[in-house]
Amino acid sequence: MQLDHSLVVVTGGASGIGYASAARFVRDGARVVISGRDTDKLRAAAARLGDNVLPVQADTTRPEEMKQVYQCAVDHFQCDVTAVVANAGISRQTPVGDTSLAQFSEILSINVSGVFVTVQEALPYLARPASIILVASLAAGQGTKHFSAYCASKAAVVSLAKSLAAELADRQIRVNSISPGVVKTPIFDTLGISPAQLAQWSNVIPLKRPAEPNEVAAAIAFLASEESRYMTGADLAIDGGMSGISPF
Ligand SMILES: NC(=O)c1ccc[n+]([C@@H]2O[C@H](COP(=O)([O-])OP(=O)(O)OC[C@H]3O[C@@H](n4cnc5c(N)ncnc54)[C@H](OP(=O)(O)O)[C@@H]3O)[C@@H](O)[C@H]2O)c1
Repeated sequence: MQLDHSLVVVTGGASGIGYASAARFVRDGARVVISGRDTDKLRAAAARLGDNVLPVQADTTRPEEMKQVYQCAVDHFQCDVTAVVANAGISRQTPVGDTSLAQFSEILSINVSGVFVTVQEALPYLARPASIILVASLAAGQGTKHFSAYCASKAAVVSLAKSLAAELADRQIRVNSISPGVVKTPIFDTLGISPAQLAQWSNVIPLKRPAEPNEVAAAIAFLASEESRYMTGADLAIDGGMSGISPF
């Protein structure tokens, strides 16, 4: 993918899908800003990714911090932002009957409000045309025991992409979401899911394995590029067949 004249902002860019996307953008010639809350992780990731990457510490739920990300991006690279990847997200189990409002709200706050803030604060800094990619999940369309908050949050992200696409189309800003299935990233360290359980999940994936983060990054790079210029308001499944193929 040719992304020579691109400036891309990736939230949650120090780890997992975000890091793989940043690496893919660099490979394709883009300049990249990665953001996240953990400064040490961000600096280490940027050092691995090379000179065309700027790390900026920011929590996506704080509008003033996200504004700062975009301001730093245009000041540092001296051009407008051509693509935004609203990737930052968390996952936790929230068993019904045993979950506090604070635990439920934290997931909705980061996974939904944080995505809205990421898009809203980007608007004054965006080039025309521009592309915004929201990272949703297979979980948006599949109820999962003990994950009601996460599934609801990702259904909201798919919906957000469609409404924002409608609202921003006449400003030449495209908005799409992607829905990965199971991807091998550090997010599983926070879920209390054992390697044995993960292996069990792999058995129900038609392609019989989880995705590598760079396989999701390839779809993100496509949506960020001119190659996808006629796509907006779409949700792209990257799930090894899990959403489209019956297990029977
Ligand atoms: N892995 C999967 O199987 C899978 C499947 C479908 C969808 N997804 C989605 O893919 C996205 C990336 O997840 P991942 O699997 O790559 O997990 P990951 O490695 O844990 O990455 C998540 C990133 O989000 C950042 N983050 C979390 N809360 C943040 C906040 N409030 N502000 C800024 N950054 C924040 C984290 O950095 P800090 O902690 O430093 O802030 C981290 O870099 C998430 O939206 C996730 O829901 C993952």
